[in-house]
Amino acid sequence: MSGREGPVLVTGAAGFIGSNLADRLAFAGHDVIAFDALTRPGVEGNLAWLRERHPRRIRPVHADVRDAAAVAKAATGASAVFHLAAQVAVTTSMVAPLDDFETNLRGTLNLLEALRRRGDGTPLIFASTNKVYGDLADIALDRLDDTYQPRDPAVRAHGVAEDRPLDFHTPYGCSKGGADQYVLDYARSFGVPTAVMRMSCIYGPRQMGTEDQGWVAHFVIRALRGEPISIYGDGCQVRDVMDVGDSVEAYLAAWRRIGAVAGRAFNLGGGPANAISLRQLLRHIGDLNGRPVETRYADWRAGDQRYYVSDTRLATRDLSLRSPMPWRQGIAALAHWLQEERGLGRPVAAPARTAEARS
Ligand SMILES: NC(=O)c1ccc[n+]([C@@H]2O[C@H](COP(=O)([O-])OP(=O)(O)OC[C@H]3O[C@@H](n4cnc5c(N)ncnc54)[C@H](O)[C@@H]3O)[C@@H](O)[C@H]2O)c1
Repeated sequence: MSGREGPVLVTGAAGFIGSNLADRLAFAGHDVIAFDALTRPGVEGNLAWLRERHPRRIRPVHADVRDAAAVAKAATGASAVFHLAAQVAVTTSMVAPLDDFETNLRGTLNLLEALRRRGDGTPLIFASTNKVYGDLADIALDRLDDTYQPRDPAVRAHGVAEDRPLDFHTPYGCSKGGADQYVLDYARSFGVPTAVMRMSCIYGPRQMGTEDQGWVAHFVIRALRGEPISIYGDGCQVRDVMDVGDSVEAYLAAWRRIGAVAGRAFNLGGGPANAISLRQLLRHIGDLNGRPVETRYADWRAGDQRYYVSDTRLATRDLSLRSPMPWRQGIAALAHWLQEERGLGRPVAAPARTAEARS
């Protein structure tokens, strides 16, 4: 994929996106250093899955990004670095901001410093978030049926672009946003070839969705178990959801084109065609499951955006991305995977995941 030799370092490789990325890299013939502290409950299963599929390609390193020496050791000899390890929940950051800071900001800086000291142009792709744009409270919205829609036709058509001013909310927004800026600045100040992916809501197989993070999988899991779901806010908040396979392709594309995209940030999500409200998703899950999902409503959570949809035009053009998986098809595939692999709920018809269906 690049001319360099050496294994690819994936931090957070046991996590949801990390394990899907590591799997794809190993299939493409790369040795992968799977660096993870295994702090997220359940992710050991993803690591075991990776090792079973690629016994000779996956090299697990059980370590913490807060440990600068361990990070530097893992980065030695790596041909590229994908940095996904993080404290991932806004809610957790509100109760333990220092821990969040140490992992998300110091951990990222540990990695950047290791690459700066190497000074040999090893690329790094960083998993950032739409939270860097704040709560977007200035975007005027109308509530139409079950969704919020921007009043501005341009925002309605395309979503939020990369030139939107940064506005960090919540400790998680600050730590990820700070890391996002350090990653870009290490390209500017030190010539480390870095790129940033500001992701919206990613969903798919291997996601340990909980109420605090990974809400799409969380909703599907609860519904398949016949358990009620808490909605924070009115459920009309809108997100553009993206299948993890499409996200992985975007990460690989950024690596392939790092010479052209170094020092740049991209908004990555399903885009306007895959923008749905929580209520719309719940209805779809209810249809798939053959019974309505039971919901309970509670107060809005800190920093929650009523509307966030990625303007994906820049990423689509500069990373040559394929059309994203249509959300109904992707959610059906996730439900089917949870049913087959985790034995949850009643059977869900296997969806076709064909290129034609992407349209
Ligand atoms: N899933 C999404 O929708 C989404 C959206 C925006 C941004 N992101 C970002 O993408 C990245 C991956 O997210 P994910 O959904 O796969 O989350 P995940 O929780 O499944 O994966 C994160 C992994 O990092 C590991 N980890 C946590 N703290 C660590 C530490 N101190 N040292 C080493 N490893 C540690 C965890 O054990 C876990 O395996 C994160 O950086 C997250 O902030 C995800």
